[in-house]
Amino acid sequence: MASGNDTGSFWMPPQASTIAADVDDLYDFILWLNIIFFVLITVGTIWMVLRYRRKSAEQLATSQIAHNTAYEAVWTFGPLILVAVVFVWGVRVFMNQAVAPEGAYTVQVTAKKWSWTFTHPNGAVVPGELEVPANRPVKLVMASQDVLHSFFVPDFRVKQDVVPGRLTSLWFEAKEPGEHQIFCTEYCGKDHSRMLAKVKVIPADLDYRGPQTGKPQDVAFEDWGKQLYTKFGCSACHSLDGSKGVGPSFKGLYGRQESITGGTSVMVDENYIMESIYDPQAKIVAGFAGAMPTFKGQIDAEGIQGIIAFIKAQK
Ligand code: CUA
Repeated sequence: MASGNDTGSFWMPPQASTIAADVDDLYDFILWLNIIFFVLITVGTIWMVLRYRRKSAEQLATSQIAHNTAYEAVWTFGPLILVAVVFVWGVRVFMNQAVAPEGAYTVQVTAKKWSWTFTHPNGAVVPGELEVPANRPVKLVMASQDVLHSFFVPDFRVKQDVVPGRLTSLWFEAKEPGEHQIFCTEYCGKDHSRMLAKVKVIPADLDYRGPQTGKPQDVAFEDWGKQLYTKFGCSACHSLDGSKGVGPSFKGLYGRQESITGGTSVMVDENYIMESIYDPQAKIVAGFAGAMPTFKGQIDAEGIQGIIAFIKAQK
C-alpha cells in the first residue's frame, strides 16, 4: 500500500507521517521493557522454585525470613521510575498528536454506514479518497451521521473515534507523496469491514485548496456513473449480478415495476432513481429495510445523469 522508499519493517507498516517514528519508539520501549521483565521474572521464578524448594518436613519451621531494605527500595522505586518515564513520554507523544499545528489544511470528514466522505476548503466533496498535500499539517474534523465509527491510517499511526452527536479531530503530516489505506476500526454493522478509503498524498503548494471534482469533459455519462458507483460505495449494497444485497441489485432494474413498502408500486425510471438518491426513504422497494442514507449535496446533476446511464446499462 505504501509508496516511496519506506516499506516498513517485519512488524510495522511504513512510517509515512511525521509522528510515526515517535509512536514506534515509545511502542518499542514499552515492548522491550515487557520482554526484559518477562524473562527476568520467569527465569527468577523457576530458579527460586528449584533453589528454595522444601527438602524436608522440618525445614519450613526453621527457615528465617528476614527483611531487606535495599531489595525493598529497588523493587519499589525501580518500577516507579520506569512507569513515570512511560507516562511522561506517552503524554508528550499524545499531546503532539492531539493538538494540530496552527494553519493546518483542514478537511471535514463524514462517516456513515459504510463510507467515508471528505469535504475540502474549496467545497469539493469526495467520497472514498482523501487527497492531501505532502509536507503540510492536515487536520481532520470528523462527524458521524449514524453510529460510532473510527478513522485509522496505520501508515500514519493515527486513529480516532468518530462519534455521533459530536465532532472529533486528528491531524497528521504526510512525509511524501503516495497512497495509504484508511480503515474503519470500530464495529459499525454488517459491512464494517468494507468501510474503506484511501489517503492520496500529492505534491502541492501552500495555496492548495482541494481537488477538482465533477465530470471531466471527455468521460461518457455511463462511465462517470460507474466511477461514482465505486467511489460512493454503492457497490456495498447494490450488486450488478442480480444477487440481493442490503438494497436491490442494479441488474435489470431500469424500467421494472417495483412493489413499494406500504402497498403501491412504482416504475423505475429517471425520476425514481433521482428521488431514491436524494430522498431514499420516500419509496422503499418491498422486502428491503431502507438503510440508505441521502446523497443530497454530494452527487450533483451530472452525477445523477451518470448513475442513471450506468443503471440503464445493467440489463
Ligand atoms: Cu464504520 Cu466500522
